[in-house]
Amino acid sequence: MNILTPTADGSNTLYNENIGEHYHSKHGALQESKHVFIDAGLKFASNGKSEISILEVGFGTGLNFILSFEYCTEQNIKLNYTSIEAFPLSTEVIQQTGYAAYVPEEIWNNFINNYDMALKGSQSLSAFCNLEIPHTTLASFHTEKKFDVIYYDAFSVQHQPEMWTDEIIAKACNFLKPGGTFVTYAITGKLKRAVKASGFTIEKLPGAPGKREMLRALKESFPAPPLEIDTFQTARQNPCGLDLLK
Ligand SMILES: C[S@@+](CC[C@H](N)C(=O)[O-])C[C@H]1O[C@@H](n2cnc3c(N)ncnc32)[C@H](O)[C@@H]1O
Repeated sequence: MNILTPTADGSNTLYNENIGEHYHSKHGALQESKHVFIDAGLKFASNGKSEISILEVGFGTGLNFILSFEYCTEQNIKLNYTSIEAFPLSTEVIQQTGYAAYVPEEIWNNFINNYDMALKGSQSLSAFCNLEIPHTTLASFHTEKKFDVIYYDAFSVQHQPEMWTDEIIAKACNFLKPGGTFVTYAITGKLKRAVKASGFTIEKLPGAPGKREMLRALKESFPAPPLEIDTFQTARQNPCGLDLLK
């Protein structure tokens, strides 16, 4: 059962009773989505590009998607968006979020009218956007495609630890093209180690409101030797991984 809940910036989120967590930051759903995924992810990675492919882990309400769709349309960037979702929400629940208010009507209508079909296969929403939402878990997801950006938006390690193991992070990282960008709302020593082990350069960026830091990681353009890291130091810096909470 999901309960519609207001967040500090006035935008809504959902509280998932089974998992025991919100879909977005309670300090501001819209702010978090813009800060982490649009500003640190999409705007950074799409600079100078005419086409971009994004893989999201956790489609949820589609908030990250509609903001990406709007940005790419404004910038004349062709967007190919794939978002893995294990437990798709109904169209009715998505409508109740009120997120229609945050994008132009045409963007919202193109999204909502194609949502059900996108769960079954790739849909062309406009000249600038293709959307597909594979109805599966990350663990079971397979594709030959490689992506420019990964939005890693799983529930937190406290509530869904299986989404933050070294193995599943490595699996996600493997879907990125060389030079690609991985962003997520959180950062811990363990996560940094897992991403570095997949051949990434780590950037710690200021987090969305309510969170000190977030992670952006860039995949090496060519295979790099494994990096030596100080596991004891990173464990001391963040012994419990508490900053991974939404
Ligand atoms: C933090 S929410 C994502 C919020 C979303 N990006 C949005 O803008 O609303 C996490 C999402 O991951 C989904 N999920 C849970 N387990 C998953 C799994 N094993 N593989 C893929 N998605 C999963 C949940 O159903 C939920 O929609």
